[in-house]
Amino acid sequence: MIRINDHFLKLQASYLFADIAKRVEHFQASHPDKAIIRLGIGDVTHALPDACIRALHQAVDEMARDQSFRGYGPEQGYAFLREAIARHDFQSRGAEIEADEIFVSDGAKCDTGNIQELFATDIRVAVPDPVYPVYVDTNVMAGRTGIYRNGGYEGLVYLACTKDNGYVPRLPDAPVDLIYLCFPNNPTGAVITREQLQTWVDYARENKALILYDAAYEAFIRDDRLPRSIYEVPGAREVAVEFRSFSKTAGFTGTRCAYTVVPKACQAYGPDGRPVAVRDLWNRRHATKFNGVSYPVQRAAEAVYSPEGQRQVRELADGYLKNAAYVRQAFSDMGFDCVGGDHSPYVWIDGQRDSWAFFDLLLDKAGVVCTPGAGFGRCGQTHIRISGFNSFANVQTAMTRIQAALQ
Ligand code: MLT
Repeated sequence: MIRINDHFLKLQASYLFADIAKRVEHFQASHPDKAIIRLGIGDVTHALPDACIRALHQAVDEMARDQSFRGYGPEQGYAFLREAIARHDFQSRGAEIEADEIFVSDGAKCDTGNIQELFATDIRVAVPDPVYPVYVDTNVMAGRTGIYRNGGYEGLVYLACTKDNGYVPRLPDAPVDLIYLCFPNNPTGAVITREQLQTWVDYARENKALILYDAAYEAFIRDDRLPRSIYEVPGAREVAVEFRSFSKTAGFTGTRCAYTVVPKACQAYGPDGRPVAVRDLWNRRHATKFNGVSYPVQRAAEAVYSPEGQRQVRELADGYLKNAAYVRQAFSDMGFDCVGGDHSPYVWIDGQRDSWAFFDLLLDKAGVVCTPGAGFGRCGQTHIRISGFNSFANVQTAMTRIQAALQ
């Protein structure tokens, strides 16, 4: 008899964004004339930068000729892209990261979801609350939690991120082994300072813990004092893995390209306490389960680092930031407490009511899709997240409709 992995039975019925999509589809079917504005899932709406499009076309032409055609590439990514990443995203900012510590992939969602496979099932895992659901659900699937009760899974250590702590978690009371951090944060849009990040790196070093640092939204940081990478903080190379993505930076949500940084110095421990290089384990996993991102897509990602590409991605992010600032201002003017939107495309709004009720109200009365905070954890019960990923005109219309609906 074929038996299932019964940890899957502990999961909530569906993945948050799939659940929202189903509700929106249902609403649209019963209101076919309503023009819905989607400010829910963080999906970009603007076309790829011209520099990327030109690189894509050129790479496709190379694939059309036997002389320049490429078959399987290196699983870890082509050297041209890994080197450009190391130089531009790290070395230029004083972070010691080499090209062979970079693993190109098809998404930060997949990488943040897959990385936990490297670690024992009985480790103690800490996640922020609210949290990007992938970190939690993949640990549930792996059997690292008990059942879901009162808005959380037993066995996970939830680190509250609230107005009281500026949405940056405090160190846990009891030791933990694996720590997920995400800055600029999804969903709150909050940022972390260098000093605060140093506290976490020091904690990980003292406790032989590992930090999984999700920096998928770093391109939205507009204050140079804020760290864009955890490796800008001394001591992080030994205790942190970082995830980055071209999705939000360069509009690659449908094109698919991301990367994970695993420094050679980063260690985890075997059953006898012997240190093992996390990079070697990730390399082994990646080479076994992944066949690399397509050549044209890697060329398009490389073009992000050309002077023209850099200018174009900056403009893209500036546009989404303008939208987010507009949303934040409009909600603040209505008297709501908000965070995010200054170094992030997301605004986190305390609606002071049940988040799914607020979601339904905005959909029914304004035809606007947001993301209910409860989907991100207990600390989100009364919040909603609004994304700036849309056109400025749509964001303005959405806010006019929301203002009318809430009057
Ligand atoms: C989000 O809306 O939180 C993101 O789009 C999810 C993702 O990037 O997978």
